[in-house]
Amino acid sequence: MNWFYEQPVKIIFGNNSINKLPETVNGRKTLLVTSPHFTKSGFTDKLSKKLGNCRVFDKVSPNPDAEEVNLCAKEVRGGKIECIAALGGGSVIDLAKAASLGIEDIRKYTAEKSKVSVIAIPTTAGTGSEVTNVAVISDRKKGSKMPLVSDSFYPEYAIIDPSLTYSLPPRVTAVSGIDVLCHAVEGYWSKNHQPICDSMAFQAIKLVFDYLPRAYKNGNDTEAREKMAEASLMAGLAFSQPKTTASHACSFPLTSIYGIPHGEACGLTLDFFTRINEKDPRTRSLIMALEFTDVNTFADKIFDLKQKIGLRTGLKDLNLSKENINELIQKSKHPNLLNNPVEITDEILLKLYNKLKER
Ligand SMILES: NC(=O)c1ccc[n+]([C@@H]2O[C@H](COP(=O)([O-])OP(=O)(O)OC[C@H]3O[C@@H](n4cnc5c(N)ncnc54)[C@H](O)[C@@H]3O)[C@@H](O)[C@H]2O)c1
Ligand SMILES: [Zn+2]
Repeated sequence: MNWFYEQPVKIIFGNNSINKLPETVNGRKTLLVTSPHFTKSGFTDKLSKKLGNCRVFDKVSPNPDAEEVNLCAKEVRGGKIECIAALGGGSVIDLAKAASLGIEDIRKYTAEKSKVSVIAIPTTAGTGSEVTNVAVISDRKKGSKMPLVSDSFYPEYAIIDPSLTYSLPPRVTAVSGIDVLCHAVEGYWSKNHQPICDSMAFQAIKLVFDYLPRAYKNGNDTEAREKMAEASLMAGLAFSQPKTTASHACSFPLTSIYGIPHGEACGLTLDFFTRINEKDPRTRSLIMALEFTDVNTFADKIFDLKQKIGLRTGLKDLNLSKENINELIQKSKHPNLLNNPVEITDEILLKLYNKLKER
């Protein structure tokens, strides 16, 4: 088996590692990109004062839109910015990566090299965006999401400070935490799998089952927060090169049409695709290595976890029509679907959405 592995991001992990930000910035003119949450809490102000030579951009919403990226890129060009510090969840980090190109319209992005380096400081656990070459940007006018992939999107540093996640409400803990499980499981069974990513995925899956219910139940459980931050990082490393598969492909229309948050939309179909992927020998061996008796027990465990942490397990409340289901099927045909180890046909997608419609 031939494979390639690359991980250019310098990783700093641990409680209070945010204090290392000034030395990683090292005097460069910085744009602190963050979400309104941190401005309201006073943290943005405190951090920008510590950095000194720093401007702030905090107009970032969940699933950031191309227009928000363009505004931030304008700030990068106009402010002669040398470095972006991205403090936030995947939405903030992805926006910062896309804006680091400094181009006028991200919708016209082809494959430019990044001009400004990004220091990613995740505050959810999470997307793993701090170590990936992906930036997911929405085009709300078109009603679509575009995962842009370029090696120039790798941040220069990832500063992972689990204490920054203590303030996450249970709902965001659950939504972002189930995304970690999807990254790990999908990275593992991906057609582009490789041994280094496999071992990261294996470890991340175990951590999520052990610690996500604890972090959800008690946001101040410091051990659970630290382990979820570790799981998020490992899962990011596990899927960055292999890429995700069917659950992520289906999540894009579920988010852009029905506004279901990213992680919840991915997790919604993970147990279904686990059962479909039973035909894949690697999926079966992963599940055995995790000490589950069979594929169905593992799929049931995912379903139970979703229920335990208050995530949706169906789409009954949306009263989906035949047309709605057909639209979901068509828009689920993202290239990630082709990365699934078992071929996902229209019939399988129809079965999936009909099942979710009733639940
Ligand atoms: N680049 C990648 O590799 C990658 C991978 C997976 C997902 N994504 C993308 O990332 C986005 C989702 O990111 P996310 O799940 O991290 O959520 P998010 O960044 O959208 O944040 C969700 C909410 O939580 C708030 N928040 C964040 N940190 C907080 C904290 N510590 N305390 C209180 N509130 C806080 C935010 O302000 C926001 O309102 C989606 O757009 C998704 O497509 C990217
Ligand atoms: Zn994801």
